[in-house]
Amino acid sequence: MTYEELLKAAGNAMEHAYSPYSRFKVGAALLCKDGSVYTGCNIENATFGATNCAERTAVFKAVSEGHRDFEFIAIVSSGGELTFPCGICRQVLAEFAPEIKIILKGSDRETAVFTLGELLPHSFKL
Ligand code: THU
Repeated sequence: MTYEELLKAAGNAMEHAYSPYSRFKVGAALLCKDGSVYTGCNIENATFGATNCAERTAVFKAVSEGHRDFEFIAIVSSGGELTFPCGICRQVLAEFAPEIKIILKGSDRETAVFTLGELLPHSFKL
């Protein structure tokens, strides 16, 4: 699967975002080492605190279906800029896939790829 295909899957998932409070839509697509793909969108809540990010939606879907070997995650949003995963999502990704690569795309078609180690050095370990 190409970066473009994974970004496209993230974009499709973004259309399902439930974000009436921020009006900011995020989509994520997680590529597993066996080729399976899990997607997610942000799901907001009136309490705000119960909001779930797109990345964690995708991770939790995958883990709950027995997949933990993640290779790439693509993230897109309705904002103009590259959308970097929040700190909580970085830590959640580190739990399962410290070597994962993160593919981001902004509205000007610029694509950027980072390792999780670049975005979250010294992640918490118990
Ligand atoms: N959001 C994500 O889905 N992923 C991130 O990494 C950052 C933020 C969502 C949460 C909320 O619904 C909206 O973006 C604004 O914070």
